[in-house]
Amino acid sequence: MPNPSLLILAGDGIGPEVMAEVRKVIAWYADHGTAFDVSEDFVGGAAYDGYGTPLADETLAKAMAADAVLLGAVGGPKYDTLDFALKPERGLLKLRKELDLYANLRPAQCFDALADFSSLKREVVAGLDIMILRELTSGMYFGEPRGIFTEGNERVGINTHRYTESEIARAARSAFQLARQRGNKVCSMEKANVMEAGILWREVVQKIHDTEFPDVQLSHMYADNGAMQLVRAPKQFDVILTDNLFGDILSDAAAMLTGSLGMLPSASLGAAGPNGYPRAMYEPVHGSAPDIAGQGKANPIACILSFGMALRYSFALGAQADLLEAAVNKVLADGLRTADLLGPEGGTPISTSQMGDAIIAALDTLV
Ligand code: NAI
Ligand code: MG
Repeated sequence: MPNPSLLILAGDGIGPEVMAEVRKVIAWYADHGTAFDVSEDFVGGAAYDGYGTPLADETLAKAMAADAVLLGAVGGPKYDTLDFALKPERGLLKLRKELDLYANLRPAQCFDALADFSSLKREVVAGLDIMILRELTSGMYFGEPRGIFTEGNERVGINTHRYTESEIARAARSAFQLARQRGNKVCSMEKANVMEAGILWREVVQKIHDTEFPDVQLSHMYADNGAMQLVRAPKQFDVILTDNLFGDILSDAAAMLTGSLGMLPSASLGAAGPNGYPRAMYEPVHGSAPDIAGQGKANPIACILSFGMALRYSFALGAQADLLEAAVNKVLADGLRTADLLGPEGGTPISTSQMGDAIIAALDTLV
């Protein structure tokens, strides 16, 4: 059996800096029996500089052939004046669209050493480990009709919240499968009280549950109540399943329960690819951070944990993913902090590469 393949697209700004630390982690795993065939290419502004387009056809073809894509970040002030079609972000959106990545996974996980970093009380967030699954390819951001039209003597802006049964069903299946690997609980959020698309959503999720995943615990909640519950008592949840619009907002709110943008990984999954692994792209939630790029200040943990999600969700290497999370936990418990993780009490930050090295050292002590 050949090794599974990873395509690294480091991108712009701090993307290449944090990805350099992920490469150390990948090399460590290769030395410890979990090897990948790794290739690299450009995306975003880096691809514009190299190829004149934010995503070259050859790069897209490599992404389609890879078992998983690891992406750093795209964008930066240098590219702000480019035409819309050439903007770095277009490369990312095209990748998501062409790979048909319909399930966006955003964990909110509280590492114990950072529990006081949250704006919420320690007891509300300590031990928190939830996952939001946001449907990513349909709903309000894609539905037709859309546009700004003229009606009589004024303009009207229109977007359409549209979901087909099959779009809901495939997102629901992903959520239930995910729950089986975690706490076996799904809470589905919509607004079935005021939206027809929400009524259909609830009905289809319930049907998929009853016919295919009766072993998973399912509940339904209106998304506005969900927002309140996320802040009031987030630990009641395991997997939250929701649509594109509500998921955009709820996942950002959930992310902030645990502190810094520099800690947040994500995954976007689609249907099975050429080798049976789901099409998948893993990336930190943060952007290219031009304000700190090139200074060795970026926190590489979000990108490293994104690789951890690849281990778990693409390759079913849960034990290896647990080990990586344990190493991150150990480094934080030892008090090591990049600048973004220093609280009001201050302290001396370590650099991007020192953080990567510390995680490797922690891995060494944990095996
Ligand atoms: P950003 O996420 O790049 O930065 C927001 C703030 O968080 C900055 O102060 C930054 O220094 C800090 N930060 C972000 N990641 C960090 C890390 N790993 N360690 C320490 N501090 C970190 O968002 P912003 O400033 O709105 O956008 C900057 C550029 O990134 C823009 O061109 C934007 O379009 C692009 N962007 C790209 C994304 C992607 O590639 N997925 C997502 C968000 C923005
Ligand atoms: Mg958002």
